[in-house]
Amino acid sequence: MKGIILAGGQGTRLAPLTEVTNKHLLPVGKEPMIWHPVKQLVQANILDILIITSNTHMGDVVNSLGSGKRFGCEFTYRVQENPKGIADALSLGEKFAQGQNIVVLLADNIFEYSIRPHIGAFLEQEIGARVLLKEVGDPDRFAVAALDEKKIMEIEEKPTKPKTNYAVVGCYMYDSQVFELIRKINPSLRGELEITNVNELYLKQGQLQFSFIKGRWADAGTFDSLYEANRILLSTNNNIIE
Ligand code: G1P
Repeated sequence: MKGIILAGGQGTRLAPLTEVTNKHLLPVGKEPMIWHPVKQLVQANILDILIITSNTHMGDVVNSLGSGKRFGCEFTYRVQENPKGIADALSLGEKFAQGQNIVVLLADNIFEYSIRPHIGAFLEQEIGARVLLKEVGDPDRFAVAALDEKKIMEIEEKPTKPKTNYAVVGCYMYDSQVFELIRKINPSLRGELEITNVNELYLKQGQLQFSFIKGRWADAGTFDSLYEANRILLSTNNNIIE
């Protein structure tokens, strides 16, 4: 299994903090934000990691992360030239994945607990994908899952009238079909290839599993959630609870 960290996007909601600095290099707790997804993967024993970011910030990201030696892993880097969405960024990982299973982390997602048990559950699936859910107070900011007992029935990206409070967080596990499925989707109204559309294709195939995450979680994309991300990681001293 390999890991892919997506650190693209403009971070416009955090301007002026992001005018010079890439969002994913802003401090969270005592470390740059992007160190958190790296540590999540390393703690789950995923040591072959692809980092995808924009050309503007690749230099700074490489300066912060280096070869991977200090984290005990190995990095590969790829540039997403235009911010055309999460699924578009992920498509750049096809060669790197070499047909293996992958776990994808959005670099602004901060988890209090380790994602390791969910990776374990995914590895027990024979086929398909796995998404992680978290009950939140502001579901309209995220992809939202509607559930029927043990199954996801529907996922909607940033719905105006969310059917539940279950946000689909930025950690996705995929088998090798994912790149084929990305080729089948079209840009959304905001002009991006949405990861939610990829997850919907797995859902249609009856191959989308889910689990709920424990503990606190924040997507550090706004000032309020960046503050919450800081609170989480300051309280754990930037450690991830097993
Ligand atoms: C992205 C995804 C969304 C997901 C969220 C989690 O949103 O599009 O489905 O729930 O990450 O952080 P964005 O950060 O692009 O608004």
